[in-house]
Amino acid sequence: IIALFLVSVKRMRKTIVAGNWKMNASKDSVDNLIKDLLTGMDGITSEVLVCAPFPYLAQVELLIQGSKVMLGAQNLNTNASGAYTGEVSADMIKDFGARHVIVGHSERRSLYGETSAMVAEKTKAALNAGLTPLLCIGESIEQRDSGNTEAVIEKQLSAVIELVGIEAFNQIIIAYEPVWAIGTGVTATPEQAQEAHLFIRSLLAKNDESVAQKTPILYGGSMNASNASELISCADIDGGLIGGAALKAEDFLQICKVG
Ligand code: PGA
Repeated sequence: IIALFLVSVKRMRKTIVAGNWKMNASKDSVDNLIKDLLTGMDGITSEVLVCAPFPYLAQVELLIQGSKVMLGAQNLNTNASGAYTGEVSADMIKDFGARHVIVGHSERRSLYGETSAMVAEKTKAALNAGLTPLLCIGESIEQRDSGNTEAVIEKQLSAVIELVGIEAFNQIIIAYEPVWAIGTGVTATPEQAQEAHLFIRSLLAKNDESVAQKTPILYGGSMNASNASELISCADIDGGLIGGAALKAEDFLQICKVG
């Protein structure tokens, strides 16, 4: 009975498969990738999203018109406009038909010094503009090995809950991305991932049980066509945030079909 209940709660949450192209694109590759994706979308019930580098938002917007594929960006500046050379605002992202934006990806935290406080501000700016933030959290291998996984996740998540409030999570997608699994080919086992996802959901539930049940929590970190199904079938894993495998239409479509 408990298992049936968990399955039905999971069914309330749609499977979401999001591609994170990172800094990989050219006009030609984007054309080919999106065209190939669109030809394979029939019968896919997951929500499908591609997060493109800024210069390609306009191109993707045109290519996906009338399709089920949605567009997202990979970063944003918290200011609405002004003297911020090289930066891109939430409204600019929205202007190109994007509905989502990744915030707090571990590459931005580690390579560009984004703190959890900054990530929280970015989440707030995205929400204020009506974008759905795809909030990434996750521990490094050192943090896991020293038994700090839960403490790290809790710190990263509470920074956002404190700033935007728990109700805002009705408009937020969380991605659990263990840093040691990103781009390494070492995927978290379904047990490791499920354990972290359940912990994240319990943190949300401490604030609001119904928000916790509704918030999609995606797994990211070397998810591919062959391991997606066992990960996504876990009770608290609602889809994937896909890097490398999102650059090949065939692989990405295969993951999208899992939902
Ligand atoms: P990966 O990247 O699938 O290449 O590991 C995932 C991500 O960084 O979002």
